[in-house]
Amino acid sequence: MARNPRYDILFEPVRIGPVTARNRFYAVPHAAGMTNAMPHMRAKFRETKAEGGWGVVCTGYVSIDPSSDDAPLPFATLWDDDDIRSHALMTEAVHRHGALAGIELWHGGGSVMNRASRIAPMSPSGTSWMATHVNFMGNQRPRLMNADDIRSLLKWQGEAARRARQAGFDIVYVYAGMGYLPYEFLLPEWNQRTDAYGGSVGNRVRIVRELLEVTHEAVGGKCAVALRISLEELRSRPSDRAPSEAHEVVALLADVPDLWDVKLDSSPTDCPPSRFAPEGSHEPIIGFVKKITARPVVGVGRFTSPDTMAGQIRRGVLDLIGAARPSIADPFLPNKIDQGCEQDIRECIGCNICISSWHDSVPVRCTQNPTIGEEWRRGWHPERIAPAGSASSVLVVGAGPAGLECALALGRRGYQVSVAEAGEDIGGRLRFETRLPGLSGWGRVLDWRRGQLERLNNVDVYRGNRLSAQDILELGNTHVVIATGSRWQRLLYSPLEVPAGHLESAGVFTPDDVAAGARIESPVVVYDFDNYYMGSVLAEALARAGNRVSYVTPAGHASAWGIMSNEQPQVHRALFAAGIALHTLSRVTTFERGAVTLANQFTSAETRLECAALVIVGARLANDALHAALIARPEELVRAGIKSVTRIGDALAPGAIVHAVYSGHRYARELDADPATLTYRRDAPLPAMRSM
Ligand SMILES: Cc1cc2nc3c(=O)[nH]c(=O)nc-3n(C[C@H](O)[C@H](O)[C@H](O)COP(=O)(O)O)c2cc1C
Ligand code: SF4
Repeated sequence: MARNPRYDILFEPVRIGPVTARNRFYAVPHAAGMTNAMPHMRAKFRETKAEGGWGVVCTGYVSIDPSSDDAPLPFATLWDDDDIRSHALMTEAVHRHGALAGIELWHGGGSVMNRASRIAPMSPSGTSWMATHVNFMGNQRPRLMNADDIRSLLKWQGEAARRARQAGFDIVYVYAGMGYLPYEFLLPEWNQRTDAYGGSVGNRVRIVRELLEVTHEAVGGKCAVALRISLEELRSRPSDRAPSEAHEVVALLADVPDLWDVKLDSSPTDCPPSRFAPEGSHEPIIGFVKKITARPVVGVGRFTSPDTMAGQIRRGVLDLIGAARPSIADPFLPNKIDQGCEQDIRECIGCNICISSWHDSVPVRCTQNPTIGEEWRRGWHPERIAPAGSASSVLVVGAGPAGLECALALGRRGYQVSVAEAGEDIGGRLRFETRLPGLSGWGRVLDWRRGQLERLNNVDVYRGNRLSAQDILELGNTHVVIATGSRWQRLLYSPLEVPAGHLESAGVFTPDDVAAGARIESPVVVYDFDNYYMGSVLAEALARAGNRVSYVTPAGHASAWGIMSNEQPQVHRALFAAGIALHTLSRVTTFERGAVTLANQFTSAETRLECAALVIVGARLANDALHAALIARPEELVRAGIKSVTRIGDALAPGAIVHAVYSGHRYARELDADPATLTYRRDAPLPAMRSM
C-alpha cells in the first residue's frame, strides 16, 4: 500500500552535524539488558530496529570508565580498546539497513555504587543519592571530585568517544540526564562547589560544555555529537535571566551539540506507565527547546500514533521522533507507516514490563512483542515466522492473551486453527482489566490481535463455546492447546510469606467476583499480596464507585512490585487522591462481625479495621481441569488422532500478561520444530583483541 501523504513529513531526511538521518524516526538510547557479554544478541536486537525503518538506532547507556559501574544492573562498557569489537558488531548490523548508529557515553557519578569495580564513587560535592529503590540503594557515599577528577572525567569521555568512532558509530553522546554525573553538576542539591564548576548556572553547565568539546575533538568532525539532557527539575527552577534555569542551560549550550536529545529526570516521569500518563506527556517540559536552538531536537513520549508524530514536527516541538518503548513493541513501526499499514502497528501499551526487565537485569521483555530479545538466541523475527511444519490442525481453547497470540502465530505459519472461547467475547482477563482506572490502553493487546486475526482465513474463532474433554475428543484436531486462564483464590498469607488458609465466608470476594458484578458493600478492605497492579487499581475503582476503601498489604509499599515498572510513586499518589487509607506491613488474619484483624508482618501487633467486604487480591490458580481431564484419557486421545495436549499462559503458570503472550507465541513457534532446536543459543563475550 502507498504511504499516506500526511505522513511524508516523517520520512524527510534530517542533517545532524556531519551525518544525515534518512528519516525522522529515532530509536533513542535505551538499555536492553544485554551487556558486552551478549554482543550477538545485542547487535541483532538493534539490527531489527534498523531493518524496521528507524533512521537512527542507539545503544543504551555505555560506561566510559570502571569508576562508573552499575552492577548488577545490565550496563554496557567502552572502557578500553577490547570493548570496541563488541560494539562494532552492532554498528555494522545497523549500517547494513541504512540507519545511523548512536552511542550514549555515560558516567553514573554519585548514582552508582561501583559494586563490582569497588572504586569509591564520586560526585561534584560528595552528595549521596539516598534512593529508596532497592536496586539503587547503596551504603557507600561518593567522594568529592577534585580538579584531577574533573580532568580524568574529560579524558575518559574523550577516549571513549575516540573508541566509539573506531567502532563505527555515527552519533556520539554526552549524557547529562537522570541523576548521572554531568546532571549532578547542573543541580545545586548535588553541586555545592565553590570553584568554576559550581554556583551560577553558567558555572554549573561548564562541565557539560567541556564534555561536548572533548567529544567533538575526539571524533574530529566524523561523527555527530549529541547531548541527552533531563530538563524537568531545571524547568521548575526560576531564573533572573530566562523563564527557567532549563531555558538558561539550553541558551548557554544552544549550538554546542549537533543534536539535542531532551528527556525528563526520573524513570517514572521520563518513562511513565500509560496508567498515569498519556502519549506525548513530555511536551509541556521540553516544548521550548526548539525555540532556543537551531540544532535538531529529538524527544520522546511513547509515540505510537503517526498523526501525533507528524503533529510534533509540524507544530515545531521536535525535529526527530524519539522512541524507546514504541520501538520495542514494534521495531517495524516506521516501515508500517511508510507502507501505508499504520493499522498494523503493534502499539506499545505503556505497561513498562520492558523497564522492569532492566531492573531485573535480564534481556528486555515486552507484553506486546514476544520476539523482543529473542532475535538472535531463538531466531525469532517480529514480522517473519517459519511456515507450518505439517498439515496439522490445532484447537486453541480459550481466547485470552495467550490463546489469541498462539492462534495468531499459528495462523501466520499456515496451520488450520480453531479457537473456542467459552465467553461471549474474546479477550479473557483483558475484558475486565481494561475497564479499570487507567488501564484502557492495555486493550491494545486485544485490539491488535483481533484485527490481525480477522485477516486470516485459516483461523476460526468460536465464541460462547465451552468445550468438555469429550467435545474435544470428538472434534479430532491434531493438537490441542489449553489456554483457559486462571482464577483468584480466597487465600490468606502466612508469616512465611506464602498463601495459606482459605477464607470462604460471606463478604469475601476476589477480583473475579468484582469482574462478575458482585455487590460490594462499604467499607471495603482490599487485601493485596499479589503486589502488582490489580490490588491498587481495584481499590481505586471501588473508591471511585463511592465506597470507603482501605488498602492492606504485607509489603512495605502499595503495589510493591510496581517499583519495577515505574508505577509505585504514582500508585501511592492515586490511592491518596482517592482517599484510600493505606495499611502496609499488615496481614489480614480474621474477618468476622464487620471487621478484619490485621497483624503487623514483623511484630504481629494486632489492629482492627471496620470492613463489610473483603476483596482478596492474592494468589491465582491455573484453570487446568480441562487439561487434566484430557491427559487422563491417553488411549482415547490416540484414537481421536490428537497428538498433543499442551497448557499455555495462565493455565500453565499464572503470571502477568507478558508471560501469557510469550507462552502462546513460543508454543506456536515451536510446533513441529526439531526438538534439538528448542533451547536457545547462549551468547558469549567476544575475545579481547590482545588475546587473539
Ligand atoms: C527498557 C528501557 C531502558 C532504558 N534505558 C535507558 C538508557 O540506557 N539510557 C537512557 O538515556 N534512557 C533509557 N531509557 C529511557 C528511554 O530512552 C526514554 O527516555 C523513555 O523510555 C521515554 O521514551 P518512550 O516513551 O519512547 O519509551 C530506557 C527506557 C526503557 C523502556
Ligand atoms: S513492555 Fe509494555 S511498555 Fe514496554 S514496550 Fe512493551 S508494551 Fe510498551
